[in-house]
Amino acid sequence: MTILITNIKELVGVDYERKARLCGSEMETLKTIENAFLLIENGLISLFGQMKELNNSVVNDPVREITKIDAGGRMVFPSFCDSHTHLVYAGSREIEYIDKIRGLSYEEIAKRGGGILNSARKLHDTSFESLVEQATERLNEIIKLGTGAVEIKSGYGLNTEDELKMLRVIKKLKETSPLTIVSTFLGAHAVPAEYKGRQSEYVDHIINEMIPLVAAEELADYIDVFCDKGFFTVEETERILMAGIKHGMRPKIHANELDYSGGIQVGVKYNALSVDHLEYTGEEEIKCLLGSETMPTLLPGASFFLGLIYAPARRMIDAGLPVALASDFNPGSSPSGNMQLVLSMGCIKYKMTPEEAINAVTLNSAYAMGLSEDLGSIAVGKKANVFITKPVPTYSFLPYAYGSNKVATVILNGEIQKLS
Ligand code: NIG
Ligand code: FE
Repeated sequence: MTILITNIKELVGVDYERKARLCGSEMETLKTIENAFLLIENGLISLFGQMKELNNSVVNDPVREITKIDAGGRMVFPSFCDSHTHLVYAGSREIEYIDKIRGLSYEEIAKRGGGILNSARKLHDTSFESLVEQATERLNEIIKLGTGAVEIKSGYGLNTEDELKMLRVIKKLKETSPLTIVSTFLGAHAVPAEYKGRQSEYVDHIINEMIPLVAAEELADYIDVFCDKGFFTVEETERILMAGIKHGMRPKIHANELDYSGGIQVGVKYNALSVDHLEYTGEEEIKCLLGSETMPTLLPGASFFLGLIYAPARRMIDAGLPVALASDFNPGSSPSGNMQLVLSMGCIKYKMTPEEAINAVTLNSAYAMGLSEDLGSIAVGKKANVFITKPVPTYSFLPYAYGSNKVATVILNGEIQKLS
């Protein structure tokens, strides 16, 4: 299929340099072409430029059948990349949300057997088919909101059978959804009730039983550990990461959400693709991240929903670090996968400029999934995952007008999606 989009008011995120990620002051540059066209062939971006450069031989090619879209002055963006979600889950947890409103903390709720363990019980009681159905509905919702690629974690199984069930659900979604999906094994999300008081035995169980089985079935691209106060220690994290790496899974870890946990340092030590959350990031952590290949990934939805402090994004970028933004879509700390809202929060709460925030939800978030060669910007040869906006005056209108959907048309893998 060939698609030609013409009369694009502004084509945002054009990329001639093909950098894998943008660091520090580089994030401030967002290249665009005004009054542009975009040609898509065989699922890939094949040509773009100014309207006046559009050759008639392309438009009137007698051989190719071209679907023509007149953008009519609307903008085109590369689809959002959401590099951190837990969107395979059963049911919801608004009861805990009310407990939170009444003053209980995330850790207090977890200690009472709520939180992740509550989702684990629900997942255990839910069939594979129903989990696929529930997750597909969430995927369809985020497609409408402009997401084109998403990472999904396990971690609500917490025993071998249920962790495998979750990962098989993700595998099924990879096959059935037009979204580009990567999967992460998060057996170390919480200590299950049956291992209460025997945390190191659960870690042994993850290492000796779960990881080899996950690897044998090739169910996970990455490995994650919740390295934080009240969850897993640095030493436990190290042991799990080493086992994961041995089985071909690069780390992408939860770090420093609840305290200065040492999670950032251990992530960098094991060359994690990303360290995520990072509410508690000081000078030492920033120094450790500088010069590494690890993408600091911030999840403003979790800070917003739980009423936590916000990660020091401004200090990180000013120090020269790259930053990615993701949704953390999950039932406990961020029950939304709306990347337009994440974009707004990046600007409003982290004081990122619209240019920085747009780069953080596209190219840098693609990097945090290992996908930046193929996604995250408008470049020849990249996968044609783009969206056309509703009429908007400037690209800054996207983060500014928070709360409404500014996406009108979605193209994934070079195909126009039916948005019902
Ligand atoms: O990323 N921080 C750990 N895990 C999730 C929360 C999961 C849950 O509460 O269900 C997060 O915020
Ligand atoms: Fe998370």
